Amino acid sequence: MTAPRFPFVHRAGELCCEDVPLSEIAQRFGTPTYVYSRRALEDAFDAYAQPLAARAALICYAVKANSNLAVLNLLARRGAGFDIVSGGELARVLAAGGDAGRIVFSGVGKTDAEIAQALSAGILSFNVESAAELDAIERVAAAAGRRAPVSLRVNPDVDAQTHPYIATGLRENKFGVAYEEALPLYQRAAASPHLQVVGVAAHIGSQITSVAPFLDAADRLLALVERLTAAGIRLQQIDFGGGLGIRYRDEQPPPPAQLIGALTARVDAAGHADKTLLFEPGRSLVAAAGALLMRVVRRKTGATKNFAIVDAAMNDLLRPALYEAWMAVEAVRPRQGSALRYDLVGPVCESADWLARDRDLALEDGDLLAVLGAGAYGMSMASNYNTRPRAAEVIVDGGRVYCVRRREEISALFRDEFPLP
Ligand code: LLP
Repeated sequence: MTAPRFPFVHRAGELCCEDVPLSEIAQRFGTPTYVYSRRALEDAFDAYAQPLAARAALICYAVKANSNLAVLNLLARRGAGFDIVSGGELARVLAAGGDAGRIVFSGVGKTDAEIAQALSAGILSFNVESAAELDAIERVAAAAGRRAPVSLRVNPDVDAQTHPYIATGLRENKFGVAYEEALPLYQRAAASPHLQVVGVAAHIGSQITSVAPFLDAADRLLALVERLTAAGIRLQQIDFGGGLGIRYRDEQPPPPAQLIGALTARVDAAGHADKTLLFEPGRSLVAAAGALLMRVVRRKTGATKNFAIVDAAMNDLLRPALYEAWMAVEAVRPRQGSALRYDLVGPVCESADWLARDRDLALEDGDLLAVLGAGAYGMSMASNYNTRPRAAEVIVDGGRVYCVRRREEISALFRDEFPLP
């Protein structure tokens, strides 16, 4: 039997998360609400951790995928490190009980203040994205009387075969140090008393559903490590960047063990079995664990299109509007009877405000629906557009439901705004 795609399964005519019917959650917490399964989160983490158990490795969860404190805390308890891209994410990880010594800091625009904040927290490494950023880190470290641990994030110039907005490893992308520039930059870093060269990193993109692009990038990284060794620069860690894509519709990503097996084989064959291996998975740890639960406000049927207007919108879940992403939709209590073809849209005043298109559903006003695979890049990309309070978030653990973020109050949305005197 194949494992269920999502921890959301129909039982006695009703969609449940673990042992809890979603209608119960809607009743208790209202809609829209993000619902996550604790077991699915932990299983997804273990799928990376187990194949790495016998070697020096660190799984640095990419906080941007879902930065709820409870999610971070569960992963920290399981031994996760974290990949952050802002001072805000650093503060969250520390607030959630994460270990600063297991944090890598990525991103092209680290400010001096963020660099200083991360230095004083004592992070594992800065993944440096340009020569100018290396200068800034050196300057801030010198001023603080510290030595900053650095890895260069090199741009391996490989095609991740994914959506152009989430491909990052091609020469024309803004990310990383150009491959040819890496060696001289390493030499500069190695000569600085304020920098400690610790490793090399790459991240080629997201929602990658095959092993091949990862291996292409790994080969480029390992060739660079060879050249560095020849130049007398020894690294401790190799960071392969983000994790695998997930199955939203009919994609068939390999299991993490397959990716890890293939990568470690390359690393070992190249004679680097002593290096600590880092991975920065985001989506594949949290996406399948989450659903966005919503209610049909009303239907609007017409000659050419039928719309189901729901109480969630692009401000809650931006992926369809931004990437035309296809996400699975299920009725919480599927109805017998004839289905109509609907576009699922929100109340926001934009034609891009849709969550799903051309879905065959038998619906009545007030019905509950769930968008599946919404645990990653859902709530973390939510906004208050149209002065809509952000959704509540709950985690289901067996038969229990924990509120891990209460629904935003409308008054809080303009609490920090002031009229002129
Ligand atoms: N490391 C770095 C440096 C990254 O930029 C990212 C994602 C990751 C790790 C995590 O990659 P993952 O394992 O999730 O593929 N909002 C888009 C995805 C943007 C990904 C950005 N970087 C979406 O909803 O599809």
